[in-house]
Amino acid sequence: MTAACVTHSVPDAGAKLYAATQTMDEARHVEVYAKYCDKIAMTYPMSPWLKALIDATLKSDRHEKVMIGMNMIVESLALGAFNNMYRTTTCPLLKKLTFNVMRDESRHVSFGHIYLGPVFAKMHKDDREEMAQFAFDAVNVLASAQMQGGSLASRADPGFLMVLDNSGIDRDDFFKGMEEAEADGISQALPPGQIHALDDLMMPAIARVGLITERTRPLYEEAGIPISEDLRVLEAMEGGHPVEDSAAAE
Ligand SMILES: [Fe+2]
Repeated sequence: MTAACVTHSVPDAGAKLYAATQTMDEARHVEVYAKYCDKIAMTYPMSPWLKALIDATLKSDRHEKVMIGMNMIVESLALGAFNNMYRTTTCPLLKKLTFNVMRDESRHVSFGHIYLGPVFAKMHKDDREEMAQFAFDAVNVLASAQMQGGSLASRADPGFLMVLDNSGIDRDDFFKGMEEAEADGISQALPPGQIHALDDLMMPAIARVGLITERTRPLYEEAGIPISEDLRVLEAMEGGHPVEDSAAAE
């Protein structure tokens, strides 16, 4: 739906054609994962914060905002989640189809950059501030959801609670354990090869197109959102390769 929204709202003809192919890619991704889930897995409801992000994107009043929401924020989340799933799954079918999906997704992130970078560079300062504010508000939806429970494992997420139930893990016991670990100073650093969608993809993508402005930089700091401008992971993934695993995958 968000890719289709870009297709009909972006004025540039070349961008419109690309967005149409992105819409087709997304339809294929939905189809292949739906088939996979029907075969072997369970389906869970969308996380409330993700729905809030998508709704804000679909309801925004300018095509540039739809593209920030879709191609920079939601795509970064997707690419991060797919990379981590690709790295951890032991199912050869899931690994293979996720590798193919990631190749599409990395192009979608690149498209956002290639199209929006020059658009923002030419934009009036006041309009660029409006874009920067939209990006901050969207990132903040995600960051507050993550900070609420220290991670995306949250009592506020009905889907996550269903995961615990289906795994035979007692909810109270789980969250008590999380609190105890945090109190003991056990860090939530990601295992090797896993990437952090916000720090490794989303913030660098937003910074790269000039949407961290003098005015919004302090907003991120006040919200406790680290501004990472390291482009290494983002650029590696735009090359179409899961991080540090390109040789093995090929
Ligand atoms: Fe995508």
